[in-house]
Amino acid sequence: MLYRTPANIDLPPDQRPSLPRPDRVLLTTPTYYDVEYAINPHMSGNVGTVNRAAALQQWKALRATYQALDVSPVIVDGQPGLPDMVFSANQTLPFLQPDTNERGVILSRMHSAERADEVPHYADAFEDAGYRVEALPFDENLTFEGMGDAVWHPGRFLLWGGYGFRTQPAAYGAIANLLEVPILLLELQDDDYYHLDTCFCPLTPEHVLIAPAAFNDPGRALIDAQFDTIIEAPDDEARHQFACNAHCPDDTHVLIQESCEHTIDRLQRNGFRPVTLDTSEFLKAGGSVFCLKQMIW
Ligand code: ARG
Repeated sequence: MLYRTPANIDLPPDQRPSLPRPDRVLLTTPTYYDVEYAINPHMSGNVGTVNRAAALQQWKALRATYQALDVSPVIVDGQPGLPDMVFSANQTLPFLQPDTNERGVILSRMHSAERADEVPHYADAFEDAGYRVEALPFDENLTFEGMGDAVWHPGRFLLWGGYGFRTQPAAYGAIANLLEVPILLLELQDDDYYHLDTCFCPLTPEHVLIAPAAFNDPGRALIDAQFDTIIEAPDDEARHQFACNAHCPDDTHVLIQESCEHTIDRLQRNGFRPVTLDTSEFLKAGGSVFCLKQMIW
């Protein structure tokens, strides 16, 4: 169920169980957002520089964009003392079981102590909403950062699993057992791309946007084997402007940081409709569109 190279993958992508696109988005209010410590290279130098009023305006524009695209926001309030909680992609991995339609989440085990206390707030919110809430088996070497590193292949019951900086590969063995899902593993090579969602953005079942420098040869071979069209973001835009931390909710629109001009042009030339957003306050903490939201069924 875990794959590191294309060699032994038996099921072609279009023969895997299909999954509906999630149609709601979980967002966390940026009331207490800040850069108070540096746990990734992007945060260094930005401690204390967040303009909270500007961050709130940028977050409201993101929320309004989803509403305009008919994706309904579900809000979990940010909490004092948890300045990174606004990055709501990281505390859970939502799932839908294709055979039973059961909805659930797997809780993250955050790599850094600074973010550990975010997770129970999401556990409570999902429990209250009637989801199946699963924890990973205890193992001191097992860390997992939700959809920062585990990304669903659009429309398919197939998971991509990044590891190397935040998530440990052991997490994917546990997830494959829990969900009975095939997982394609991608080892991350470069600490600017510390989460898979900083360098890998599946847009449709056939299209993906990537930052090539983040991957090694086996990882790149896996990506090449599973997607018909690979759109490469220029390294400076991916590394510094988070071009690949974009999000395509509907096979057409791509929400993306506005300064990624070349990437935006490449998306347009491939038939996508970019929706540009200013996420500059969140880039200071090492995040943009993709990690500011969690899609849920
Ligand atoms: N400061 C946060 C961290 O380092 C940013 C997380 C951004 N999320 C993401 N999925 N890339 O954990």
